[in-house]
Amino acid sequence: MAIAGISLVLILGIVNLALVFFQVSTGKKWLKVNFLWHRRLGVLLLLTAIVHAVLAYLSR
Ligand code: HEM
Repeated sequence: MAIAGISLVLILGIVNLALVFFQVSTGKKWLKVNFLWHRRLGVLLLLTAIVHAVLAYLSR
């Protein structure tokens, strides 16, 4: 599956990497945002990581 010729698995992999950077930066309080966003995006990361893994498995 692809969007504008770019694999959805690749896009989600990059989104996941960005979310991991956000989670560690906000968890360690290096990046100061409302902590609610750490909790919300932590759950989003769980979902995007599962979709990434399932699509990668199905497209193997
Ligand atoms: C729903 C998901 C999550 C919840 C509810 C949550 C909640 C928390 C809470 C309550 C803290 C302690 C903050 C404080 O000391 O005041 C924390 C710290 C932290 N979180 Fe999360 N978190 C979530 C997901 C994640 C994810 C997915 C990552 C990394 C990928 C992450 C990385 C961190 C880090 C690195 C710290 C700092 C730990 C430390 O320095 O001791 N969190 N988080």
